[in-house]
This record gives sequence, structure tokens and C-alpha cells, in this order.
Amino acid sequence: MAPKFAFIILAAVLPLVATQQIGTGTPEVNPSLPTWKCTTSGGCVQQDTSVVLDWGSHSIHEVNSSTSCTTGNGVNPTLCPNEATCSQNCVIEGVNYTSSGVTTSGDSMTLHQYVQNNGVTSNASPRVYLLGSNGDYEMLQLLGQELRFDVDVSTLVCGENGALYLSQMDASGGRTQYNPGGANYGSGYCDAQCPVQTWINGTLNTDSQGYCCNEMDIWEANANATALTPHPCENDTCDKSGCGFNPYAMGDQKYYGNGDTVNTLEPITVITQFYTSDNTTTGTLSEIRRLYIQNGQIIQNAVSSSGIDSITASWCSSSDSVAASLGGLTTMGEALGRGMVLVFSIWNDPGQFMSWLDSGSSGPCSSTAGNPANIESQTPGTHVTFSNIRWGDIGSTFSAGGGSGSSSSSSSSKATSTKTTTSSSRSVSTSHLTTTSSKSSTTISKSATSTTSSFGATQTHWGQCGGTGYTGPTVCASPYACKFSNQWYSQCL
Ligand SMILES: *[C@@H]1O[C@H](CO)[C@@H](O)[C@H](O)[C@H]1NC(C)=O
Ligand SMILES: *[C@@H]1O[C@H](CO)[C@@H](O)[C@H](O)[C@H]1NC(C)=O
Ligand SMILES: *[C@@H]1O[C@H](CO)[C@@H](O)[C@H](O)[C@H]1NC(C)=O
Ligand SMILES: *[C@@H]1O[C@H](CO)[C@@H](O)[C@H](O)[C@H]1NC(C)=O
Ligand SMILES: *[C@@H]1O[C@H](CO)[C@@H](O)[C@H](O)[C@H]1NC(C)=O
Ligand SMILES: *[C@@H]1O[C@H](CO)[C@@H](O)[C@H](O)[C@H]1NC(C)=O
Repeated sequence: MAPKFAFIILAAVLPLVATQQIGTGTPEVNPSLPTWKCTTSGGCVQQDTSVVLDWGSHSIHEVNSSTSCTTGNGVNPTLCPNEATCSQNCVIEGVNYTSSGVTTSGDSMTLHQYVQNNGVTSNASPRVYLLGSNGDYEMLQLLGQELRFDVDVSTLVCGENGALYLSQMDASGGRTQYNPGGANYGSGYCDAQCPVQTWINGTLNTDSQGYCCNEMDIWEANANATALTPHPCENDTCDKSGCGFNPYAMGDQKYYGNGDTVNTLEPITVITQFYTSDNTTTGTLSEIRRLYIQNGQIIQNAVSSSGIDSITASWCSSSDSVAASLGGLTTMGEALGRGMVLVFSIWNDPGQFMSWLDSGSSGPCSSTAGNPANIESQTPGTHVTFSNIRWGDIGSTFSAGGGSGSSSSSSSSKATSTKTTTSSSRSVSTSHLTTTSSKSSTTISKSATSTTSSFGATQTHWGQCGGTGYTGPTVCASPYACKFSNQWYSQCL
């Protein structure tokens, strides 16, 4: 009696369309985030872009019921024995961006680490991708080009990472007949940490493989530290550490921080330039340069104790043998030339407290300051705001005076150093947020191993912890909290 009654209610909410694979319970409304493409001759042209939350932040449930098609470890084997059956049995729902920690206003987007829903604080840690107006990801081709954005890191405390980076995902997110949502529902994520996820490029990952791809970390930062890091990959091998540039680690400890040369109490304009050896957009990537603008002044990048002020191909390969073995900047440049997806995220790190970024030789934070439990209790409002995102010809996205546009600006005196350095301490970047299955072991990040290995009464990160009809664990493994997504689905985030 009761089940039948419930079914009738559900039928009213969810029209029964057997071939429908996009759920009708919650619409997917991608927040608008306009960006600009710039040329030296034509100036900047605004584009109709928006953002989409990762696939793993969306609820996937049975067509005719509230039963989730995903579990803490992957998919429900009955509903999803294979991809075709899964697509018949299951639908993916839209997501509420505000309650997931993502808000936009004009050309500005704010990502919140924690959100409050009904007075309960939970870990949102959103990761979003830039969508083009055609429903595919916007593919940024930055070889021989530059990218500019403004960022406010002032509330990002030790242990937080407000990130803007590029991943070589498929433009459609792996859209197929079985995955018609594709990029529109945030599918197809990959990065150089080779995350193990339930779906790879939109197809069911039945044997827990990692999904590796080239990653260019343009900005991983908080108010106390910043890093710029190429992570080239070849086939399924990636440079997980990367030949990165962190001013503090390179020897200038007063360059980036509260009241420093780049003052993190105030908004910062960040420009990253990808020079090729012949200055074309098809050449070999030879150097990655960084400039900042604050208060109308262009600020040259920090200079390391050995005279390095940019990431050159030779420095990358000589300081990082893994990068060298994978083709170094040449490989990174090929990916930039093909086009990469722009990713934004905010995250913290229960395993390592983000110490690779901001502690020890990398920054001024204590080794325990980044404990997410402390962040949640002391600074739950921590957030990052990215705005005014522009890319195009070198020199076309900014002008001295802090403006944006096409007025020419000499692109710095290039103090090219021929010295090599052996002293820089490579950061060991732990995994970006991934929809990681707890049975994955060696290929995933350090942060996941100790915190997600326990089965039993607690649910793991990203796993389901509630929803109508759900009978699994409802308590999340520390430090995750059970976050209400919709009536069918709550998730450990
Ligand atoms: C959903 O319910 C309808 C009506 O009972 C049925 O025809 C259809 O096969 C069901 N679909 C699935 C995937 O269970
Ligand atoms: C999304 O969630 C917020 C609370 O975080 C709520 O105020 C808002 O009404 C929701 N939006 C929709 C469309 O349900
Ligand atoms: C991802 O999926 C798309 C669409 O099916 C396909 O064209 C592309 O080759 C796939 N990419 C990889 C790396 O598997
Ligand atoms: C990657 O795969 C290609 C084609 O199979 C092969 O030629 C190449 O050697 C591989 N590279 C590495 C680093 O394994
Ligand atoms: C590329 O441009 C830089 C200045 O931006 C210049 O110094 C260099 O000579 C140019 N290289 C070539 C091969 O034209
Ligand atoms: C980190 O940055 C914040 C905000 O600027 C500052 O108050 C704090 O002193 C910094 N922490 C360290 C250890 O330098």
C-alpha cells in the first residue's frame, strides 16, 4: 500500500519517459559567467559563457524511483550492470548552485568552501568548468597566448586552495547516446593526478581506472602562498609534482602575502603568458611568464635566489626529471595548442593540510594550520572570487593602469636566466577534488588513502548519505558532512 502510494506521487513528479536520461526533478541552470576573447588588433569581445558543477555533484537516481544509481564505491550494480542498461534505468538531475557554494554576479564568481543550509554548515568544496554557449566546454587555446583574471584571495586562510587551472578534458565531456548530458552536466573530468572516478569521459568506469590528462595549474593559492605549475602527461603517465613556480619556495619570502609586493589583502590581477620559441600560436612552448597588476602598477614576477623569474623549458626539464621524461613544456604546449577546459575550484586537504603549497619551505603557514577541522570551526566563511576572465594575444588582455582591453603594453623586460637551479623544493600536489572511489588505492592521492579506507557505518567522501528510499550509511567519514542535495539524494562532501 505505502509503496504504491509513494509510486503514484513520484510518477507525478517525474514523468515516465523510458528513454529520458536527463532527470526532470531539478533543472540544471548553469550560472552565467561572461568572459572575453581578445586580439591585439580587435580588442576584447565578450562571450556568452557559464559554469557547470562537476558530474559527481549531481544526483543520479533510478528513473521511476528515488533509488540512487551511485554508491560510495561507484554504481549500483543492479541498476548499472553496464552502460546501456544504466542509461535506461537512471537519470541525472540538475543541481542547486547556491546551496553548492557557487554564486555569480556579472563577470564574477565566488566559490565557498563551506555552505550553510538550514543553519547547518557543510563542506561544499565546489569544482566547476567553463561552458561555451553551444553546451560544450569552452576550449581555451593558450599556446602563444595569455590568460588574465582578477582574484580576491583575502579570506583564503592557510590550508585553503582557490584554484584556476586547465585540464585536457574532452570538449563534449564524453557525450554519447548513453550520456546525453555530457559537458552540460559536468562530465569528463580528468587531471594529472589520474583520479579514479565512477565515470571516465562519460563512460562507466567498470575497473577502477584512473583518468589521466595534461593539467596546467595556472593558479593554486590562498592569502599566504601561490603556485604556477605545469603537469605534462604522456599516455597514462603524468608529472604529478610538476615543475612549478612558488615565489616563497623559490627564495623570495616577502613577495606574496599580507602587505607584501603582491598584497593578498587586496584584489590581484594575474596574467600568465605562454610564449613559443617563434612567437606563433603553433610553435613550441618555450616559457611561461607571470605578471601581476595591483593599483594600476604592473608587478614583475618574483626572482628566485638563483635568478629564475619564469618557467622556461630548460629550467622545467633540468629541475624536474619526470617532466623531462614526458616532454616537459613541449608536451604542455601541445595540450595548450589543442585546447583545454578552464576549471575553478576551492578545496582543502584533510590528509596533508595543503602543506605542499603554504608550509615548510613553500610558505609561512604552520604545518597544522590547514587542518580542515580548524578552518571549518574558525573561518567557515572562507571563499575565493574570480572575475574579469580574458584570454588572447599576448599583451591584449590588460593595460598598465589596471584596465583591461587591447591597449598595447610592453610585455616586460625578459631577464632570461641561463642558470639552472637544483635547490627548489618541488611541491607534491595532492589530488584535486575527485570523485574518488574508496577502493582505489595507489593511484590516488595521499589525502584519500587514510580518510576513505574505512567501510562500515560511515560513508566516504562523495558517497550518498541520505534521500528518500536510501538505506545505506547516513554518517559521513570525518571531515565530511552529509549535504542535502534534493529529496532523493544527500551526499558526503
Ligand atoms: C518505469 O515505469 C514504467 C511504468 O510502470 C515502465 O513502463 C518502465 O519500464 C519503467 N522504467 C524503468 C527504467 O524501470
Ligand atoms: C537553492 O538553494 C537556496 C538555499 O541555499 C535556496 O534559497 C534557493 O531557493 C534554491 N533554489 C532553487 C531554484 O531551488
Ligand atoms: C571522450 O569521448 C568522446 C565522445 O565519445 C570521444 O570522441 C573522445 O575520443 C573520448 N576521449 C578519450 C580521451 O577517450
Ligand atoms: C605513449 O603511447 C605511444 C603510442 O602507444 C607510444 O609510442 C609512446 O612511447 C608512449 N609514451 C610513453 C611515455 O609511454
Ligand atoms: C618573440 O618576442 C619577444 C618579445 O616578446 C622577442 O624578444 C623575441 O625576439 C621574439 N622571437 C622571435 C623568434 O621572433
Ligand atoms: C596568512 O595570511 C593572513 C591574511 O593575510 C594573515 O593574517 C596571516 O598572518 C598569514 N599567516 C602567516 C602564517 O603568515
